[in-house]
Amino acid sequence: MFFSRSSLLTALPALLCSSALAQNATTTYSQSNVPTGTPLPGNYGGPLRPQVHFSPPQGFMNDPNGMFVDADGLYHLYYQYNPTANRAGNQHWGHATSEDLFTWTNQQIALFPGGPEEGIFSGSIVIDGNNTSGFFPNQTNGVVAIYTLNTPESQTQDIAYSFDGGYTFTKYENNPVIDRNTNQFRDPKVFWYEETSRWVMVVAYPVDFEVGIFTSENLIDWQPESNFSHYGVTGLLYECPNLVPLPIENSTLTNDTQAWALLVSINPGAPLGGSITQYFLGSFNGTHFDPLDSRTRFTDFAKDNYAGQFFDNIPFGTRQVSMSWASNWQYTNVVPTDREGFRSAMSVAREHWIQDRPRVGLSLMSYPANISAAFDSELASNSSLGNGTLNVDFGQLESRALYWEANITGLGDSTSLQGTLNFTFSSSSTGEYVSGGTFISSGDVWVDRGHSSAWSNPFFTDKFSTSGLYDGAGTWRLSGIVDRSILEVYLNGGEEVATSVFFPTEPLDTAVFRVGGINESASASVAVWGLKAAWLDQANANGTVVGNVTQSGNGTEGLVKLF
Ligand SMILES: *[C@@H]1O[C@H](CO)[C@@H](O)[C@H](O)[C@H]1NC(C)=O
Ligand SMILES: *[C@@H]1O[C@H](CO)[C@@H](O)[C@H](O)[C@H]1NC(C)=O
Ligand SMILES: *[C@@H]1O[C@H](CO)[C@@H](O)[C@H](O)[C@H]1NC(C)=O
Ligand SMILES: *[C@@H]1O[C@H](CO)[C@@H](O)[C@H](O)[C@H]1NC(C)=O
Ligand SMILES: *[C@@H]1O[C@H](CO)[C@@H](O)[C@H](O)[C@H]1NC(C)=O
Ligand SMILES: *[C@@H]1O[C@H](CO)[C@@H](O)[C@H](O)[C@H]1NC(C)=O
Ligand SMILES: *[C@@H]1O[C@H](CO)[C@@H](O)[C@H](O)[C@H]1NC(C)=O
Ligand SMILES: *[C@@H]1O[C@H](CO)[C@@H](O)[C@H](O)[C@H]1NC(C)=O
Ligand SMILES: *[C@@H]1O[C@H](CO)[C@@H](O)[C@H](O)[C@H]1NC(C)=O
Ligand SMILES: *[C@@H]1O[C@H](CO)[C@@H](O)[C@H](O)[C@H]1NC(C)=O
Ligand SMILES: *[C@@H]1O[C@H](CO)[C@@H](O)[C@H](O)[C@H]1NC(C)=O
Ligand SMILES: *[C@@H]1O[C@H](CO)[C@@H](O)[C@H](O)[C@H]1NC(C)=O
Repeated sequence: MFFSRSSLLTALPALLCSSALAQNATTTYSQSNVPTGTPLPGNYGGPLRPQVHFSPPQGFMNDPNGMFVDADGLYHLYYQYNPTANRAGNQHWGHATSEDLFTWTNQQIALFPGGPEEGIFSGSIVIDGNNTSGFFPNQTNGVVAIYTLNTPESQTQDIAYSFDGGYTFTKYENNPVIDRNTNQFRDPKVFWYEETSRWVMVVAYPVDFEVGIFTSENLIDWQPESNFSHYGVTGLLYECPNLVPLPIENSTLTNDTQAWALLVSINPGAPLGGSITQYFLGSFNGTHFDPLDSRTRFTDFAKDNYAGQFFDNIPFGTRQVSMSWASNWQYTNVVPTDREGFRSAMSVAREHWIQDRPRVGLSLMSYPANISAAFDSELASNSSLGNGTLNVDFGQLESRALYWEANITGLGDSTSLQGTLNFTFSSSSTGEYVSGGTFISSGDVWVDRGHSSAWSNPFFTDKFSTSGLYDGAGTWRLSGIVDRSILEVYLNGGEEVATSVFFPTEPLDTAVFRVGGINESASASVAVWGLKAAWLDQANANGTVVGNVTQSGNGTEGLVKLF
């Protein structure tokens, strides 16, 4: 969670003049145009609105927060939310739920600031099934949100509890639970560590380039245990740490079955500009994280992957699932989706594990979780494409969103690698396109978003690339998702990932996959699926997605058009 003080001031001119509502961490303050008890409505019909990615009904979204999966298998996503403007400021926690990670139901705003100078900044949620906190004498599904309360003077870690499984919250009356007398201390991510029977929090001291590790028996009393500091690429801030054990699969380097990943987002000052997320692999003993080497690794080779968070309550020992904010602080407040009443989308949910890669060793793998749940229909496939081209017209597809896989198989040893595999998604009316591809012999993979003309900006750089390494197993793969204004590309099943937003003036409707120059013994298999219009399918006769309005709420009236 980051935005400059000046952007906060522009976002809140009227409110900052108001002294009537004093800061009060225990109360809930709601502006007259922010509904309580019912979600904001949204129009998801605009040409830039993703259909299988989450975006807020209206207003501005940044970091994913509070992510957990409940006992019914329902995924809860909360998010940094400004419901009153299309730019950062006035931070609330928005909320949505999903059974399949692609079809999201908008829920009522979950956490409101206590006054006009407060912001409910990023944080996490845990299920307190054993009532360690004492808030839940009568239930095993109580949830506790741990978040940063931001005021002009301070950032503290506060908690709020929910008796109804995460829809409504009560702020703890003795907040804050951690106060270090600083205004640079945020983004607590908490998990239960079975071995010591303690809650563990990782939290950023952004300008000190430190991740603090705290432990607690009850989510209320926290002990500082260690600091992980000045590691990797610092940029100008550390934010949104996550610490999570990931299974090591198919390793020949180690007999260990898991390693801990510490993810740290940096902003500004990423190597490609603005924001990005780095990670370190290592071990964790309940109080200290020890990196296994001195390497910094990045989660993405493009520019729109920040502040990722892992869902709580997915059993450790299995693949873990995260979602990231698919934007960059360099331009997020000025991208052109405001004309459709919103700014920012999340990445799709990705599952993660660790794999050995040639030369580089243990690496984070990231791949869309449960992707087949998003399929509408297979649009085209060719399992013996060879050196050839596959054209797919998807102009009739309601979502205008695709998932594709392209595999080159039958490759020999590394000396015989040759050829290229490219994709282009274009608009037949304007010729705008987004493209990418891979050179099989060098392992290079690239993405180019520079041919959409709805908008430009000096920081909205257009070409990204990295290199994969052939593992000798005979295949080289490129797959991904294109969803109106967001492209995700996965090399070799997730060893390299690009997340990139782009803004065409007209919808894309034509896909072309080209394979050329591959070895005579090799072949190509390409398949393309149309994806569901998960948001359009929820719209009412007026084109409005109302979300979960089953509760008696205050505020739907008159809110259909805020902007
Ligand atoms: C904050 O709000 C609570 C509940 O309304 C009230 O009891 C308390 O006095 C308030 N504190 C301040 C400092 O205004
Ligand atoms: C738990 O149940 C008891 C007995 O019915 C009741 O007195 C108490 O208020 C309940 N506590 C909560 C937090 O709901
Ligand atoms: C709940 O209690 C069980 C049994 O003591 C223990 O194994 C488990 O770790 C506890 N989990 C949490 C989240 O408190
Ligand atoms: C890799 O590991 C996964 C998970 O442990 C296992 O299911 C799979 O069979 C393994 N694949 C190979 C090629 O060994
Ligand atoms: C893994 O375990 C086997 C059997 O105990 C042992 O021979 C081998 O050296 C171990 N490998 C590593 C990398 O520790
Ligand atoms: C955890 O690791 C730290 C640093 O390596 C060490 O000082 C501490 O004693 C360890 N704690 C336990 C319980 O092993
Ligand atoms: C793929 O794109 C690269 C870069 O533009 C180009 O060199 C190559 O010829 C293309 N391959 C095919 C099969 O079109
Ligand atoms: C692909 O084209 C190259 C020449 O560019 C040729 O050498 C190779 O045999 C072709 N591969 C297949 C599978 O047809
Ligand atoms: C590509 O390869 C992956 C991994 O082997 C496989 O699961 C998938 O079905 C393949 N896709 C196509 C289109 O051949
Ligand atoms: C559509 O909008 C009209 C006018 O605001 C309203 O009366 C009607 O109930 C809406 N219909 C639906 C299905 O929401
Ligand atoms: C709607 O919200 C209520 C809580 O206000 C919750 O109990 C219910 O499960 C939600 N329904 C859906 C379909 O999300
Ligand atoms: C809704 O909230 C507003 C201000 O927050 C209040 O003035 C109004 O009376 C409330 N309406 C209902 C029906 O509760």
